[in-house]
Amino acid sequence: MQSDFSLFERRFRDYAAQFRNADGTFDFPIRRKIEHTFDVCRTTEEICRREGRSADETQLFLLCALFHDLSRFEQFRKFRTFRDADSFDHGNRSEEIMLSGGFLQDVPPDRQAVIACAVRLHNKASIPPDTPEESLPAVRMVRDADKLDILKLVYEFFTDPAKSDPTMRLDLPVSPGCTDSVLRAVLEGRPILYSDMHNVNDFILTLFSWPNQLNYAGSAELALERELYPHLYSLLSLPGKEITALPALTEQRLREKARRKS
Ligand SMILES: [Fe+2]
Repeated sequence: MQSDFSLFERRFRDYAAQFRNADGTFDFPIRRKIEHTFDVCRTTEEICRREGRSADETQLFLLCALFHDLSRFEQFRKFRTFRDADSFDHGNRSEEIMLSGGFLQDVPPDRQAVIACAVRLHNKASIPPDTPEESLPAVRMVRDADKLDILKLVYEFFTDPAKSDPTMRLDLPVSPGCTDSVLRAVLEGRPILYSDMHNVNDFILTLFSWPNQLNYAGSAELALERELYPHLYSLLSLPGKEITALPALTEQRLREKARRKS
């Protein structure tokens, strides 16, 4: 990580420490969110390196990554869920906590505005068209890095008992098959709404619509190198010929994106 990142990291860790249990431990979901935060930081740094971003820009994007999920601790403590629909919009709330809590103290106002925008928009279904031009690179970066880490987290959730605490529930049943409209949308590269999903297979399938939403070529390269999609595909056992087209289709979409250096 960048050298002056450590001051901000300390602020983050001091804040997270408030959510320790009396015995000094973190509840599993909180610990996972701390790990996720630093994984998103590392992925951000890696995408920046591949995209040839300057040290200054990388530093800015790292702060977006560090604070993007700041409200997750409060969300879990108050509501025992990470579902925004049952609690609050965690992008908006993370921005509020970051700005009111002095996390960006001594950061120039123009950079604060960019970080606030990236944190607020990291979890929205799409990037609003009125997003300020100067914030777009940061918004795109944190959304990509977050997606790459979520792809890994989902795979771990289903394959590693140590990383699949039931409190990180999906609120979707495990049942055979998938919803036809979800599979169709994925094959055609269209986004899917949470309300369209009816079981865990639908949820995993939905992740296959993400390659089209990645913003940076470096992100697509990383998804290919980390074999994120072959791993996820191994979780699906769905009948039908159409589904067998999915791995090659996904790889093709990622390769096309990876060729397009921004
Ligand atoms: Fe988030």
